[in-house]
Amino acid sequence: KTLISKMDPDNIDCKLLEKYARIIREGGTVIFPTETVYGLGANALDEQAAEKIYKAKGRPSDNPLIVHICETGQLGMLTDSVGEKARLVMERFWPGPVTLIFSKKKTVPYATTGGLDTVAVRMPANNIALELIRESGVPIAAPSANISGRPSPTKGEHVAEQMDGRVDGIILGGDCAVGVESTVIDLRGDVPVILRPGGLSAEEIEAVVGRVDMDPALKSGTGDAAPLAPGMKYTHYSPDAQVYVVKGSGASAARIINKLVKENAKKGTICGVICMSQNAGYYDAPVKLELGYDSADAARNIFSILIEMDKRGVQVVYSESLEEKGLGAAVMNRLVKSAGYRFIEIQGEQA
Ligand code: TXA
Ligand code: MG
Repeated sequence: KTLISKMDPDNIDCKLLEKYARIIREGGTVIFPTETVYGLGANALDEQAAEKIYKAKGRPSDNPLIVHICETGQLGMLTDSVGEKARLVMERFWPGPVTLIFSKKKTVPYATTGGLDTVAVRMPANNIALELIRESGVPIAAPSANISGRPSPTKGEHVAEQMDGRVDGIILGGDCAVGVESTVIDLRGDVPVILRPGGLSAEEIEAVVGRVDMDPALKSGTGDAAPLAPGMKYTHYSPDAQVYVVKGSGASAARIINKLVKENAKKGTICGVICMSQNAGYYDAPVKLELGYDSADAARNIFSILIEMDKRGVQVVYSESLEEKGLGAAVMNRLVKSAGYRFIEIQGEQA
């Protein structure tokens, strides 16, 4: 049975937290909030515990896990080689939504790294997460707490619905402040490479370490090339509804979307629209869910909107595009993957 508790991140109940830390120490699985999305955690240094994570998620075991630490001192348990650029990024942005790739020490089992000789590490900016790691006394491996392929949970109610019965413990700590997963970056080479766009923008990282590249497999946007982060190759974030991303926004996108919604309604197909709040007035659809006014709002809302579409019985979703700047790059990456790379072009206009 799953031990489920609510916890206030600003007023942590230490006795309650200790129960969850004990589950981790004894090799069990605990779902906990982070500032990005909820994570499904287990002792990163315990092979069998890490294997439980894959089982609970139904995740392919070649997809490596991110290891969460609560202080930079714990890095020494995971890696011997921390470069200058990595140090700069950690000093500036940890705790926060950025994950760094290091060569791994022998102590880190291959079950945690999906068979790789590298390990992905981050320090989350969430008090419950940090205290859970501290009380457990071990680094915690944690992927997003969704069933593999589904949208990541960013709200307590969504995590409880998806995962009750699949893990030993769930800590409900409210809504995730950032809402998309961390940016994964490899800073070991001359030019750092972003393997997954996420909660920290490329622009912010560039301000600290100079030019960074995107994994070319992400730029192509077709899903064909092999990405450097193994997890990026899987279809992901998909609700039951079929999602389409329209290459545009506002009035021009609305002309095409409103037409498609009408045609679908005639066939009895229920459509939903995802759009920025300032554009909501353009759209006419039975279900219309707003991302908010800027890319940070959109990041916070995107996953819960995808989950909400299914709850409302929506069968086909049309989404506006966001400009791929700042957090917009991460939101578009999640949208395009949830759509399985299905785009709708707007005739006679540039995307
Ligand atoms: O924000 C986050 O990062 C959340 C929260 C819970 O911290 N975690 C998360 O984990 O998103 P997950 O497992 O859903 O995604 C991890 C990503 C995958 O794309 C995986 O392939 C990549 O990081 N990754 C992990 N270790 C790697 C490694 N050693 N080399 C390259 N990519 C790696
Ligand atoms: Mg994930």
